[in-house]
Amino acid sequence: MDIQTAILGRVSCPRLDAPGPTAEQLQQLLTAAVRAPDHGLLRPWRFIVVDGDQRARLGEMLAQCCQQDQPDLNEAQLEKLRQAPLRAPTLLIVVAEISTPHKVSVIDQIMACAAAVQNLLLTAHAIGVGAMWRTGAPALSPNLKLCLGFRPEDEIVGFIYLGTPAGNSKTVTIESPDNWIRAFPDA
Ligand SMILES: Cc1cc2nc3c(=O)[nH]c(=O)nc-3n(C[C@H](O)[C@H](O)[C@H](O)COP(=O)(O)O)c2cc1C
Repeated sequence: MDIQTAILGRVSCPRLDAPGPTAEQLQQLLTAAVRAPDHGLLRPWRFIVVDGDQRARLGEMLAQCCQQDQPDLNEAQLEKLRQAPLRAPTLLIVVAEISTPHKVSVIDQIMACAAAVQNLLLTAHAIGVGAMWRTGAPALSPNLKLCLGFRPEDEIVGFIYLGTPAGNSKTVTIESPDNWIRAFPDA
């Protein structure tokens, strides 16, 4: 698939069945991810593959960490967190391991990781792997960062759900960019 077709055709796949990506496909996805632009070549991205029984353990971790962050979560909300990773056969947790203090800003390091995720999503689409980038409260959980072995200054960039697309795939609308263009201020 050429790059333009991949960019214009990519969609998030909320419903993902087994099988997940093969080891070879995962390698392809991660190889594409680490080709992202990277200010200062800091290589800030870290990827944790979660599959099989690890998904239930991750779900338990999400519930426990979010409960510590927000003690008022009710049982239904906690159960939703427990079940979340079971929505796909394979997940990738993408974390920006921040170099600080550093002349390259924190936001640049996070943006490099976001570019890595986009490379990964486009490659997934091109090779027929369904993917969905999710964040939500767990991505902001200070406790989850620690549970995953990271420091408070690191940032969870997303949970990338991967698998075989299920259900009807969304119809893509190609938007005109005109609405988002602004004129450079007059002198
Ligand atoms: C940084 C980021 C975080 C996202 N987090 C979520 C999320 O938590 N839940 C969700 O349903 N979709 C999430 N998405 C996916 C968007 O909802 C999706 O990209 C958007 O609806 C456009 O659909 P498309 O990707 O099919 O073009 C996220 C996307 C980005 C870029």
